[in-house]
Amino acid sequence: MPNRVDLFSSFTLPSGLTLKNRAVKASMEEGLGNGQQLPDSEIFKLYQTWSEGGVGTILTGNVMVDRLAMTGPGGIALEHNTDLRPFVEWAHKGKLNGARLIMQINHPGRQVFANMEGKVLSPSDVALDLGKHSKLFGQPKAMTEEEITDVINRFVTTSKRAYDAGFDGVEIHAAHGYLIAQFLSPLTNKRHDKWGGEIENRARLLFVIIEQVKEAVPSHFSVSVKLNSADFQRGGFDVDDAEWVVKKLSMLGLDFVELSGGSYESPAMQGKTADGRTLQREAYFLEFAAKIAKVTDLPIMTTGGIKRLPVARHVVNSGPQLVGIASAFAFVPNLVDRWQLDSQFVAQTKVVRWHDKTLSGLANMALVTSQLRRIGNGKKPKTNASGIWALLIDQIRKRALTKRYIANKSE
Ligand SMILES: Cc1cc2nc3c(=O)[nH]c(=O)nc-3n(C[C@H](O)[C@H](O)[C@H](O)COP(=O)(O)O)c2cc1C
Repeated sequence: MPNRVDLFSSFTLPSGLTLKNRAVKASMEEGLGNGQQLPDSEIFKLYQTWSEGGVGTILTGNVMVDRLAMTGPGGIALEHNTDLRPFVEWAHKGKLNGARLIMQINHPGRQVFANMEGKVLSPSDVALDLGKHSKLFGQPKAMTEEEITDVINRFVTTSKRAYDAGFDGVEIHAAHGYLIAQFLSPLTNKRHDKWGGEIENRARLLFVIIEQVKEAVPSHFSVSVKLNSADFQRGGFDVDDAEWVVKKLSMLGLDFVELSGGSYESPAMQGKTADGRTLQREAYFLEFAAKIAKVTDLPIMTTGGIKRLPVARHVVNSGPQLVGIASAFAFVPNLVDRWQLDSQFVAQTKVVRWHDKTLSGLANMALVTSQLRRIGNGKKPKTNASGIWALLIDQIRKRALTKRYIANKSE
């Protein structure tokens, strides 16, 4: 069937924000925050490279709403009293060449590495189960009502400050097993109060955060959500839940919903599931995204497994309006310009497939973040990097960053 929608055509979001094309650089935590957990020169260079490479929209790596609850030691946090100047610079660099820049905002909940000695919160006290690697993460405590209110206020504060810094919008991270996804999933949310039980209650935190963020920012500031199409765990948040949530989201004035899937326990976003369900080889979540796109007027984006232009084109002709691409942009930062010159161009990425799924996942993340560091330092990405070597360097680097984080966090 001929393609009707052109990937390179512009798209206007409900807020009125026009994107110059339908390709979106999806979030990748860069691990390049400085000792104060602020963006710095490597981040500026990386985002300048991306914005100059032709992509319409750039989602930042997740920015934490609480510097005491971080997804990683090189992360970035934006709180009420954080120095805004580096964020203003970040916004400037990411918006060069007419690209739109959206800050992804997140709270990790229980997905906090134990050695970071941070706050480990969750709806209930259910720890991650990664078999022999479970000890990598802290033991969560069930959140009190005050802690829930604090988290809601933090999402609002970070959104307001992203607006003040010049970002075009925020994307609330409700996927990949982080705090909001922990509330959504019956496997991690065992509460009996208004925040747990039926899906109406499990989704309450997400809805309240969106409502309060929308009230606090101007209507032209883009607010969106990243949601799992499913957790891909038996008994977890599933496709019917996602469909129900998206239907409700269409009443909250969002700009788009990005559909992904999985978590540390079931790394579907890397194409592997824990419940044995097979994903599409390319555009992993397209089947679910296309189904969900049918039941909503909200623009839908799907991310995962997209490296070729024909696949990206197929996505925007199957229901979703936007295509999210993450790792390919680490190996080819000017992917959109490349595709415009050569429609057959395939982004070569390096992926390892070891027997140990947790180690494999960490190595693949390390392979990608090592490219982000190279670009941040003005070097070309490397497609022949070794997985073991990248993992080793990453572990050494993270150890040093963790020490730095612990030393600075009490200041
Ligand atoms: C190094 C790395 C860091 C990531 N960080 C984030 C993040 O901060 N927020 C997020 O929503 N997803 C994050 N992801 C997941 C990607 O956004 C995306 O959903 C996933 O990689 C699948 O897309 P891809 O096949 O195009 O890479 C990350 C992925 C990688 C490889």
